[in-house]
Amino acid sequence: MSGAPTREGILAVLRDVHDPELHRSIVDLGMVGDVTVRGGRVDIAIRLTIAGCPLKAEIQRRVTEVVTPLAGVETLSITMDAMTDEERHRLRSGLTGPDRPSPFQEGGRTTVIGIASGKGGVGKSSITANLAMALAGRGATVGLLDADVYGYSIPRMMGVTRPAVAVDDLMMPVEAHGVRMMSIGFLTEEDSPVIWRGPMLHKALTSFITEVWWDDPDYLLVDLPPGTGDVALSLANLLPTSSFVIVTTPQLAAQRVARRAAAMASRVNLPVAGVIENMSYFVAPDTGARYEVFSGGGGALLAAELGVPLLGRIPLEPAVAEAGDRGLPVVAAHPGSPAALALMEAADAIVAAVPRPALSPS
Ligand SMILES: Nc1ncnc2c1ncn2[C@@H]1O[C@H](COP(=O)(O)OP(=O)(O)OP(=O)(O)O)[C@@H](O)[C@H]1O
Ligand SMILES: [Mg+2]
Repeated sequence: MSGAPTREGILAVLRDVHDPELHRSIVDLGMVGDVTVRGGRVDIAIRLTIAGCPLKAEIQRRVTEVVTPLAGVETLSITMDAMTDEERHRLRSGLTGPDRPSPFQEGGRTTVIGIASGKGGVGKSSITANLAMALAGRGATVGLLDADVYGYSIPRMMGVTRPAVAVDDLMMPVEAHGVRMMSIGFLTEEDSPVIWRGPMLHKALTSFITEVWWDDPDYLLVDLPPGTGDVALSLANLLPTSSFVIVTTPQLAAQRVARRAAAMASRVNLPVAGVIENMSYFVAPDTGARYEVFSGGGGALLAAELGVPLLGRIPLEPAVAEAGDRGLPVVAAHPGSPAALALMEAADAIVAAVPRPALSPS
């Protein structure tokens, strides 16, 4: 019998419990309040960053999981209350430090990729959501910024309905399927129209980049609105190390429109890393036969014209649309399907085509 648990022993295991959103030890974050031990009875006070923290149950589960197996623990009681403003402020300052360099500027550690197209509805958002998950599945840390402020679709595609929360003045991305996301959809009532004008748009994107706790991900994928214009300009200003991946469909007319997205990239002085052709062909589920539904080969032509690699050809597949509507991208919902396989290959091609910034030694 190893006797009663000790306060030190409990704090030691709590040190390994990470906040699901902040990815730091709850002890280091100052989220562990009083810990009292009376014989086999343990009481732990957890200080939540906000009162209605949506991840409360998860934190409770993680704490329970490490404390209950400790020798001598008979009953565990966890109380949760919210931090004071001052505690929150201290936590927030600890996260960002006084002059922490941005991971998105020259010399930063994050590879930033904007997914663009000349026209709407070619599958940018579906592709961005799937690439983000595919990269996360390869062990990378991934942020997904929904820069389509008026026509946002990432929350629905990634199946997230909970609102983003702020710690002090720092906005937390919403995390699902291993991807950290920020979208105007996490900040507004569903279906309420967003009617901001140009300057507001730039301000919103600026906040999404500078006031969100992205925590230096390996990749930041940016889902752009259709067309060219204001948002690309903002992106070039705010994320000067970005490169673009251009999405087109195979039709020649579509390819011509996609060319405009490439022209925009060159106007704002950002490189194009490659082209992804979407809705390229159809694989009959019963026979496996492949049908080129739209002729044209627009993706290959555009890539050749720009002198960049064709990073992938994604088949037209009902499961892509279904999975998007259900909130679980096809790479996770049907990982063996032709579209999922093509999307995973495209993710690998991106890893190969876009060099990771040389990391300065820390
Ligand atoms: N490979 C595919 N197979 C079948 N359906 C697809 C495929 N790619 C996208 N879709 C569907 O096509 C529609 C448009 O896709 P999506 O919203 O991703 O395009 P978008 O380029 O982001 O559009 P917008 O320009 O409006 O932002 C969606 O309903 C989506 O589910
Ligand atoms: Mg979109």
